[in-house]
Amino acid sequence: MIYISASLPKNSTETATVVRDFKPTVILHAAAERRPDVVEKDPEQTKKINLECTQHLCQLANELGAYVLFISTDYVFDGTKPPYKPGDPTCPLNKYGMSKAEGEKIVLAANSGNIVFRVPVLYGQVERLDESAVTVLFTKVKDPSKPAEMNHCERRYPTSCADLGQAIKILVDSREKDPSLQGEFHWSGDEMLTKYDMAVIMAELFNLPSAHIVADTRPAQGAPRPFDCHLDCGRMEALGAVKRTPFREGIKSCLDKYFP
Ligand SMILES: NC(=O)c1ccc[n+]([C@@H]2O[C@H](COP(=O)([O-])OP(=O)(O)OC[C@H]3O[C@@H](n4cnc5c(N)ncnc54)[C@H](OP(=O)(O)O)[C@@H]3O)[C@@H](O)[C@H]2O)c1
Repeated sequence: MIYISASLPKNSTETATVVRDFKPTVILHAAAERRPDVVEKDPEQTKKINLECTQHLCQLANELGAYVLFISTDYVFDGTKPPYKPGDPTCPLNKYGMSKAEGEKIVLAANSGNIVFRVPVLYGQVERLDESAVTVLFTKVKDPSKPAEMNHCERRYPTSCADLGQAIKILVDSREKDPSLQGEFHWSGDEMLTKYDMAVIMAELFNLPSAHIVADTRPAQGAPRPFDCHLDCGRMEALGAVKRTPFREGIKSCLDKYFP
């Protein structure tokens, strides 16, 4: 039985009540402040959700004999030496990456049976385009009246949430059979694309003009971003996680409803 902490109650007493009532065997902890530029500006609020909530969920898991599967990020690496294997030392460039790396330490120190599951930039079915750093690009793509500068420097591996869900299910099922599965795991799409590449693909998929999409080859502005954090997913592949939806197919199905 899994308790998914994507949206936690806003105080620790209510969280404890929900978790104790539910009596999970696994706590899939996805709640976080994950916007790098927000984290740079508000480290105190980030500390509460990314570290203190993580600590609290780990305590509750220990109390209930459950384990925590902590969703983390490729931003715990600096992007200079890809591909990154699960056991590689973390070396984050920005405060978001630092907070997630610290969260990972909390999780692994709380119980050696806990799991850290790192993923790169995600996309999936959204209620608003700005819910994902990938789907938000479509806002500018579908408005050819204004030039749209798109980063064409940092390398990304956009990953389908549907594929990620399947990978997590494989890991949780495997862990049920083999409790020695613990520590760090990675999952990622395998198409290397910049945001500019993603935007041009979106325009092509919907037969939109792309002349207004301008490649910006400078490093991203704001909080420093890693150049290439390609994750080595061999550990998950060995468990049978292999489904990677091609980006064109996955993103088309997510954006269809946003194109009149
Ligand atoms: N999105 C990506 O591209 C990406 C890439 C790599 C790793 N990740 C990791 O994946 C996980 C999920 O990311 P996401 O994209 O789903 O993030 P998201 O859309 O921003 O959702 C984060 C969730 O955390 C909850 N939350 C935030 N602050 C909270 C607080 N103070 N108290 C209680 N709940 C709070 C939010 O609940 P409310 O909606 O109720 O506020 C929301 O449901 C995160 O751990 C992130 O670090 C994401």
